[in-house]
Amino acid sequence: MNDLAFDTPPNALDAFWMPFTPNRTWKQDPRFVTRAKGMHYVTPEGRKILDAISGLWCVNAGHCHPRIVEAIRTQAGQLDYASSFGLGHPAAFEYANRLTAVAPDGFNHVFFAGSGSEAVDTALKLALAYHSVRGEGQRVKLVGRQRSYHGVGFGGLSVAGIGPQRKHFGPLLAGTSHLPHTHDPARNAFSRGRPPHGGTDFADALEGIVAAQDASTIAAVIVEPVAGSTGVLVPPAGYLERLREICDRHGLLLIFDEVVTGFGRLGAPFGSQALGVLPDLICCAKGMTNGAVPMGGVLISDRVAEGLNAQPDGTTEFMHGYTYSGHPLAAAAALATLEVYQEEGLFQRAAEIATPWEEAVHSLRDAPGVTDIRNIGLLAAIEFGPAAGGGPARAKAVAAHCFESGVLIRATGDSLVLSPPLGIGKDEIGQIVETIRGGAARA
Ligand SMILES: Cc1ncc(COP(=O)(O)O)c(C=O)c1O
Repeated sequence: MNDLAFDTPPNALDAFWMPFTPNRTWKQDPRFVTRAKGMHYVTPEGRKILDAISGLWCVNAGHCHPRIVEAIRTQAGQLDYASSFGLGHPAAFEYANRLTAVAPDGFNHVFFAGSGSEAVDTALKLALAYHSVRGEGQRVKLVGRQRSYHGVGFGGLSVAGIGPQRKHFGPLLAGTSHLPHTHDPARNAFSRGRPPHGGTDFADALEGIVAAQDASTIAAVIVEPVAGSTGVLVPPAGYLERLREICDRHGLLLIFDEVVTGFGRLGAPFGSQALGVLPDLICCAKGMTNGAVPMGGVLISDRVAEGLNAQPDGTTEFMHGYTYSGHPLAAAAALATLEVYQEEGLFQRAAEIATPWEEAVHSLRDAPGVTDIRNIGLLAAIEFGPAAGGGPARAKAVAAHCFESGVLIRATGDSLVLSPPLGIGKDEIGQIVETIRGGAARA
């Protein structure tokens, strides 16, 4: 294969403004990968890097899976693009049928988008439209949560709760409120799986928001079932159940942003199934196409679908859509990805390896600087205290060491976050943990 152009880093780096990256710093000491296969990236010098974060929580079946690569190639040669605005092509319908078959019971429709951010904005708009159609157009307020990440659209950013990501962008959507986050290291540090303390108390804060705003003005509550980007915050026992109860009591829709927890991360197709709590709308993306083609979507419960379908025949039920909704290449990649997940039993495999994974990550408890370890399914975070002498965040230094030692891990704030491919084995888990231990000893 002639791919010389991509095996050599370019000599001019200025033009590409990289996302969520300190560009000027990065470009003084750039890091490149030029190939990937299975669980590894390969650098231009030929160094193999174990991908302990599945790209960016998305390459759940491993890189360059031949089946997915082939499906994309074939589709590109057969039908490269067709709009889904009043025109059909088979792959999008076939995928919608297959996806809703593995979705939680009562989720029989999906609206396609091009990314997680678009999925979130779509879900928020679905919630507003649902209430409007039902004659409750005064329900326009949205509730998010501190420390949550819901992408970068104005809707998602408005309900998100990571201050530095919002600070340059003005007031955002009016009428948003935020629940407290659920990180409670004083009571829950080093919990395995769902932390035991605080679940119902944290969720009861929603009653406070309802009291302050009046339930009749609130459309929906959106949460990540497990908060990913902020550092893997696992919901305390009873938390999601109580949120569901309060939403039901007051007629609010509950949206789960499963962009990270979808597609096997918690050992089931969706986190809602693994955690046993069903929302009204589920946002997904990332693992949908194994990261190979951008795609997102919202799974729509029958309750919401029936609400919107109550409009007269001939009405466009939801006045929303993207040029790339149901894009043929994305749909083909997603179909092949779902087949790979099912035929290779990857969701089941993630469920089985979750206990050895938990054991392994918690063995880092005595590593220097570690103040908390959190895990659920094939997710984990290792939190570090501040560096001695107030130097740069310790987690960042450990992540840099890991990259030099052949393991890709992401640092977010004080935590390292881990989300390995679902087929990870015990040897690779051992490599990840020992590399972190080495990094912690040096940081
Ligand atoms: C929970 C969650 N929602 C939404 C998004 C946004 O997805 P995208 O970057 O595809 O727009 C992300 C991305 O990490 C995410 O983790």
